[in-house]
Amino acid sequence: MEQNIPSRIIKKRGRLLESGKSNAYRLVHGAGDGFKGFHLDRLGDYLLASKEGKPDLAEEEIARGWMSRLKSRGVYLKQLQKHVRHSNKECSSPKIWLGNAGQSETTIVENGVHYQIRFDEGYSVGIFLDQRENRQRWLQQKVNSRFTLNIDALKSGDILNTFSYTCPFSVCIAKSGLRAVSLDLSRKYLDWGKKNFQLNELHPETHDFIYGDVFDWMRRFRNRGRIFSGIILDPPTFSKAPKSKKMFQAERDYPDLLNLALDQFL
Ligand SMILES: C[S@@+](CC[C@H](N)C(=O)[O-])C[C@H]1O[C@@H](n2cnc3c(N)ncnc32)[C@H](O)[C@@H]1O
Repeated sequence: MEQNIPSRIIKKRGRLLESGKSNAYRLVHGAGDGFKGFHLDRLGDYLLASKEGKPDLAEEEIARGWMSRLKSRGVYLKQLQKHVRHSNKECSSPKIWLGNAGQSETTIVENGVHYQIRFDEGYSVGIFLDQRENRQRWLQQKVNSRFTLNIDALKSGDILNTFSYTCPFSVCIAKSGLRAVSLDLSRKYLDWGKKNFQLNELHPETHDFIYGDVFDWMRRFRNRGRIFSGIILDPPTFSKAPKSKKMFQAERDYPDLLNLALDQFL
């Protein structure tokens, strides 16, 4: 089975496979790995494949290869959709494809930090792996070898994590000894975020979790003169708050979002 994984793909993941600090990362990255339109991620004891349509034989073989190499319990399959907003939770959740379904919840470790993953909560499973290095910047307290974060200076205020989702950034901020304010439109995701704090023996009650629209709250913070020592802006590509008439489009509206954030920056 393991011979189904081309050695160039294993070589590229060498550092991640050997580090022992993470069990969540991308294993097959579409065309970049010679599998156009097919992605495969490791999420702890499970793998998650993503594809628009049915995987072909070569894709199944490489999934089985990684499953055997990593002793994964099963592989879930997420059908990539162009219009996720129009499908319900049940339809958009990944389904078991190979191996055993087991529990719909599992815990992953990324750079020593634990996060809860749920395969039955819709299109997204609880973490976006492509932000791993940005999360690590908070954990290591440096942006790169020449730019260290001044944690003592940052402690003079709170760090605002907008569009916080299940709060992975907030957990890393808290692990650095800073106070996180997580802001999201979904109560469910904020509660999931609190669970992520607890998984890491952090106390959610000593941090803030605010439910609501980022744009409403940023204006409210500005009017109240509330400022932050750091602000994370990681919005979705598109979004629409229930009471808002306007749709947010990252490509078009990011400058407005940035200007609003700059007003509240210490
Ligand atoms: C792509 S995720 C953001 C990723 C997140 N920053 C992370 O670290 O993984 C989308 C999140 O933005 C939230 N969201 C979308 N529009 C919003 C808005 N106008 N105000 C607050 N939260 C919003 C959604 O509820 C969802 O949790």
